[in-house]
Amino acid sequence: MGHIMSSTFTKTGASAKILPCSSADISFAQKTEPSGDETCTITPGSTTLQSIQLASRHLTDLKVPVVMPTETVYGLAASSLDPSAVAQIFSIKGRPADNPLIVHVSSRAMLLSLLPNTTSYSLSPAYEKLIAAFWPGPLTLLFPADPAKIPPIVTAGQPTVAIRMPSHPVARALIAHSNTPLAAPSANTSGKPSPTKAEHVWTDLGESGKVSLILDGGPCGVGVESTVVDGLKEDGDLRVLRPGGVTVEEIERVVRGGLAHGERATRVLVHRRDFEDEAMEQHPTTPGMKYLHYSPSVPVILLFTPDVSSPPESVTPTSLREVISEFLPHSNTRQKVGLMLLSNSLLAIPPETEVDFVTFDLGRRYSPTTTAQRLFDGLLTLEQQGVEMIFVEGITEEQEGLAVMNRLRKAAREVRWIQA
Ligand code: TXA
Ligand code: MG
Repeated sequence: MGHIMSSTFTKTGASAKILPCSSADISFAQKTEPSGDETCTITPGSTTLQSIQLASRHLTDLKVPVVMPTETVYGLAASSLDPSAVAQIFSIKGRPADNPLIVHVSSRAMLLSLLPNTTSYSLSPAYEKLIAAFWPGPLTLLFPADPAKIPPIVTAGQPTVAIRMPSHPVARALIAHSNTPLAAPSANTSGKPSPTKAEHVWTDLGESGKVSLILDGGPCGVGVESTVVDGLKEDGDLRVLRPGGVTVEEIERVVRGGLAHGERATRVLVHRRDFEDEAMEQHPTTPGMKYLHYSPSVPVILLFTPDVSSPPESVTPTSLREVISEFLPHSNTRQKVGLMLLSNSLLAIPPETEVDFVTFDLGRRYSPTTTAQRLFDGLLTLEQQGVEMIFVEGITEEQEGLAVMNRLRKAAREVRWIQA
């Protein structure tokens, strides 16, 4: 980060300030009150405290968005209670106004302050279980929206509002310190891969001064966005609208736990795998359905090895070399080609006779947690390095692999099967 910091401060233009924050300076201690909420303490005199204080002032006094790290991806945050601050999020990202935002809270009390009053709504037992198991963490839940409490610009006029409690200490401390629920989409230009490092945000929104302040909390641990779950339907089932950092397997385990004998477990349905929804397909509220998503400025091609997916009958698998020459535009100069592969891949990298390969390691096979953490970093790093195209190895759709493949299928222009 050092070189980026110095270039920030020697620049005379209005580039963003990058402020370092250390999670080690932040702690949450249990309060002895019925809400069970925790108090946030930040080391007095630390750089982290100064950074969070400055970011808080941007949010509450200046009413402008700031960039914060979360455990999933970096977020572009503004007060969800202030429609004009939220409007700036949409314009900075170039985000369509009909795509609603997630509201981030730091405590249960803050969650309850945003919900319709208890005479008209109370949390279902399934939600209570999910909150107990996964909050703070990468799980977003839909709740009934009360327009008197959350301005309709946040929800894009939907009858529901998406809310999560992030576990990243910097995000949670910023929400607690500003005492403000924060609306925050991923901190990228709409349609681009989500940023998982402060450097990614700097390149996309910081250098040009589209944002004024980036809190740098280091690389995000999860690397893909939160899982979005709708548990508000009449049948009581949980519908996963976007697979993410909390896996479907983990959610199933939690909802099955603690059931009385003979009690039916809540079903967990994954969009596109277990259910389709005509109305939903038309709506941008199905994350990544209506709009282009996760795409770097160069084409991405998804590659399947035989252990992950077998091709449809009409398709004959080919070699990586053939696939590269199929897609790479002809050129008289040597070109750079990005390869995002597993470290113990079954794919053989062809000799570099005509092209130069720039590789990015996605971790070992069957290590979806690592692959998820590295996915967006790989797409953004290779794009930065000036490759013509990116070929990415697909993984099995289990655990975080479901979220990884959900993002890759949207990022990729084409899919090819490679022979063993
Ligand atoms: O991990 C995350 O969720 C990150 C970090 C910053 O918290 N945020 C994030 O926000 O990914 P964004 O805006 O990039 O994606 C939020 C997705 C959108 O695709 C949106 O369609 C969906 O959540 N969403 C928001 N409100 C919704 C609602 N009321 N109903 C259905 N989907 C909703
Ligand atoms: Mg996003």
